[in-house]
Amino acid sequence: MRKKKIKGIILAGGSNTRLFPLTATTSKQLLPIYDRQMIFYPINVLVKAGIKDILIIVAPEHSGQFLNLLGSIFEKYNIHIEFKVQKIPRGLADAFIMGEDFIDEGNVAMILGDNIFEDDLGKAIGKFEKGGMIFAKEVSDDPRRYGIIEFDKDGNAVSIEEKPENPKSNFCVAGAYVFDNRVIDIAKKLKPSKRGEIEITDVNRKYLEMGELHVEKLSGEWMDAGTFDSLLETGRIVKEKEIYKKFDPIIDMAIFEFNKELKELAKKRLR
Ligand code: TTP
Repeated sequence: MRKKKIKGIILAGGSNTRLFPLTATTSKQLLPIYDRQMIFYPINVLVKAGIKDILIIVAPEHSGQFLNLLGSIFEKYNIHIEFKVQKIPRGLADAFIMGEDFIDEGNVAMILGDNIFEDDLGKAIGKFEKGGMIFAKEVSDDPRRYGIIEFDKDGNAVSIEEKPENPKSNFCVAGAYVFDNRVIDIAKKLKPSKRGEIEITDVNRKYLEMGELHVEKLSGEWMDAGTFDSLLETGRIVKEKEIYKKFDPIIDMAIFEFNKELKELAKKRLR
């Protein structure tokens, strides 16, 4: 059987309240992580996995800025970027409803636009065939802040709880997910949670119930750059561990050419 095509979605909308007022003038995912905009990190994960079709979901107020940066930056490199505007942040699982036509009949890898991974997820994503796959990271801070995965003695996931009072492990769900095409129907059937969002945890739980959720454990750093402190800390770790030097060469080249063009334009204006 031929392997199904896999496409990539990056969720770069949201309400961005925790970084307000920085996010009054630009999107969280366009803020810098050391020497480049945050959005290049999730793009890099997908490109390293061999994914050439990427849908970026953005908020209406920042759509023009995303288009300016990414609208044609990869066109020479056979990487196709599309955008969709999410008018209201309906929740992470909305990615699969908004992405229905884009995903078409294939599989999908979805990454949160503010999550930075040191591990190369490309291999695991590249091997994916069926069911669901999520990534777990052991955390040393308070596990009650995260979605927590409980494992049995053989290392199989047995439960997932969102921000539990009594966490059953220190392993939390990181912001990268791979699903087969059934995720579209699963997402469409979800009921909003108490906070009014359709939750990715409910999607993960559904695949777990079906016995088709595979969990990959991360060994490197995993960061969520969504607060002032974590934004600063992420930049520091990215520099210290030289994570910014481990990008796919296509992305480095595209950023280099884009910046060169900007500098030339600036020079002309100053003349
Ligand atoms: P969060 O960081 O959970 O939420 P947020 O970005 O709205 O920020 P805050 O909590 O400060 O208000 O979202 C994780 C990622 O998913 C982030 O990149 C934004 C994105 N997102 C969407 O694109 N659409 C959505 O409906 C939601 C909830 C999040």
